[in-house]
Amino acid sequence: TIAQKLSFDVQLSDHARTAAEREQVLANPAFGQFFTDHMISIDYTEGQGWHDARLMPYGPLSLDPATSVFHYAQELFEGLKAYRQSGDSIVTFRPYANAARFNRSAARMAMPELPEDTFVEALELLVRTDREWVPTTEGHSLYLRPFMIATQPALGVNYPSRTYKFMVIASPSASYFTGGLKPVSVWLSTEYTRAAPGGTGFAKCGGNYAAAFVAQRQAVEQGCDQVVWLDAHEHRYVEEMGGMNLFFVYGDKLVTPALTGTLLPGITRDSILELAADLGLETEERLVSVDEWQEGCASGELTEVFACGTAAVVTPVGTVKGADRSWTVGDGTSGPVTMRVREELVGIQYGARPDAHHWVHKI
Ligand code: PLP
Ligand code: COI
Repeated sequence: TIAQKLSFDVQLSDHARTAAEREQVLANPAFGQFFTDHMISIDYTEGQGWHDARLMPYGPLSLDPATSVFHYAQELFEGLKAYRQSGDSIVTFRPYANAARFNRSAARMAMPELPEDTFVEALELLVRTDREWVPTTEGHSLYLRPFMIATQPALGVNYPSRTYKFMVIASPSASYFTGGLKPVSVWLSTEYTRAAPGGTGFAKCGGNYAAAFVAQRQAVEQGCDQVVWLDAHEHRYVEEMGGMNLFFVYGDKLVTPALTGTLLPGITRDSILELAADLGLETEERLVSVDEWQEGCASGELTEVFACGTAAVVTPVGTVKGADRSWTVGDGTSGPVTMRVREELVGIQYGARPDAHHWVHKI
């Protein structure tokens, strides 16, 4: 990492939306469809480091068609949210954890690391500038999307790109699932694999998601909301969902798939593992097979299953479908442990519960 203090050049938009236009968007923001008036851009050049840090009006990029990211998908991203707490303070949740994961992804993708403080300063500057875009509606938030692309216009693959661009955009958002807290149905993908050992499963790179769409579409064709990924060797052990980690509830014990390198180390997952102790729940990180999932539901020992992630928060899983089997989790509705975990996490994020772990970062 190059230790250098960047100062941001600030260019405010001449075309910022009016308060009325903004309110119209905030009345029904959906997820990831509307963007605020500004964005962050920082450039990187090999040998020179990070330079040209800017806050600028939100708008299109102009890139040479030969730009490396278009051909070889050298790209990575992060996702976190800004929340409006009562008293009108605005906070993010564990932004340094996202900065650290961004750099672990960068190392895997042969991309430059960004100093964690610069990552967080970029978020702060954008959220402060566009603070009116942080929703006031309960449960809504401003979704922040930092990302990095390889910008060298060259088609050779003998060496990674020598130039990159880091950006942050922001999107007011409601809940990710349109059904609100309705349990989701999931499809077990045995035809496709998301990630194999030595691959990029633990990195938040765009290619992982590009390769997942075919299975997500299959899930939708099967009448399910989301795909569940299984291990690459046997399609036997549960890894994660398309944009969420999974927890299995055995009475007062939470079990979640171990971080084997092939799934994303979710910050929500990590937070729930820590919160569990506060809630009097035990935790276990280990392999969980599809058979165990089905048999646990049949015997009643496995009482609830939920998915978790920044966008999805904590969402119950109600039904499971595979090529040759399907079953219901519990009675197919959301269970009490799922609701308690959700309330605790959301309570900390929105300021209704004490922040004992010092996760909330005031902007
Ligand atoms: N798994 C995948 C594949 C994801 O895209 C996400 C979302 O970021 C998660 C898990 C959950 O991660 P986090 O809790 O950090 O949002
Ligand atoms: C997130 O929760 O931040 C995600 O990245 C999930 C999905 C929108 C890709």
